[in-house]
Amino acid sequence: MANGRRKIAVIGAGNVGATCAFVLAQMKIADIVLLDIYEGFAKGKALDMSQNSNILNYNGTITGTADYTDIANSEVIVVTSGFPRQPGMSREDLIGKNADIVKQVGTGIREHAPDAVIIMITNPLDLMTYHMQQVTGFPTERVIGQAGVLDSARMAHFIALELGCAEEDVSPMVLGGHGDTMVPLPKYTTVGGIPITQLMSEETIAAISDRTAKGGGEIVKLLERGSAFYAPGSAAAIMAESVLNDRKRVIPASCHLSGEYGLENIYIGVPCIIGANGVEKIFELELTESEMESLHGSANFYKSQLVDILGY
Ligand code: NAI
Ligand code: 2OP
Repeated sequence: MANGRRKIAVIGAGNVGATCAFVLAQMKIADIVLLDIYEGFAKGKALDMSQNSNILNYNGTITGTADYTDIANSEVIVVTSGFPRQPGMSREDLIGKNADIVKQVGTGIREHAPDAVIIMITNPLDLMTYHMQQVTGFPTERVIGQAGVLDSARMAHFIALELGCAEEDVSPMVLGGHGDTMVPLPKYTTVGGIPITQLMSEETIAAISDRTAKGGGEIVKLLERGSAFYAPGSAAAIMAESVLNDRKRVIPASCHLSGEYGLENIYIGVPCIIGANGVEKIFELELTESEMESLHGSANFYKSQLVDILGY
């Protein structure tokens, strides 16, 4: 913080990382360091975004680098480095390659920014968030996974389309892992304060929930190369801002559970308060038997991969 300004680092200057940096720059809340294994790639994107400062009227610095000493004093670090899936792949197909990348990045963060809060994006999200916490040894509340903001926003979009209402009036809720096992919760989803169960038929809600759970795959199929990045990059930026400015936003995120919802030693999506200390409170919602079963099904799916593939 040599110039007295606050700093956010974004690791991975690809589609999600660059979008996140771009959104953060427009929030005008901090200087941004964009780190990638390919130095020129990070520097080029940072220079391009810096040249946008005059056009969009922001004046913090955006620095591209491959050197971890540049992330020192970052209060928040968004980790997007890793391979995205291609058509026909599940997020879980990325485990091996991305676990190695997370190990390398986590080691750099531990050494150069030991007090930062980490927002994980790399897929498979809930597993890579667990892995990052283990690699850094950071307190669990300082390593958080982004999934719920994005998955909920997707659900909100589909609801707004169906009702023909403003997107901003939809308050959605999606729990569970960031994958096909996620658990959209219609009962806790409201539009202008009205539960959607009073606004739509069960069939329509079921179709929206299904499209939400498969939302990432729908975009992968359309793009034919890589995965979504505008909404994911923005979702990461929203979380980073809540930490930096201690906003205490209530959002679903992948948090470490120690008994909440009857689950132990796992990262999975639940509603929480995000502030300067990372995850400051986890809310335990009242769930029906079948919702609880779905949440446990999602958790068990990831637990087995933590043990069988990552060796935890
Ligand atoms: P991308 O391929 O555009 O960017 C990834 C970047 O990571 C590349 O620039 C690459 O050079 C960099 N990288 C690779 N190894 C690195 C290392 N060891 N150190 C530093 N940088 C390294 O991919 P994209 O689309 O940005 O996606 C990134 C990750 O985010 C993927 O794993 C993807 O599945 C995940 N994702 C997660 C979402 C979520 O909601 N949690 C949503 C969208 C994507
Ligand atoms: C998504 O949901 C691929 O996880 C990414 O778009």
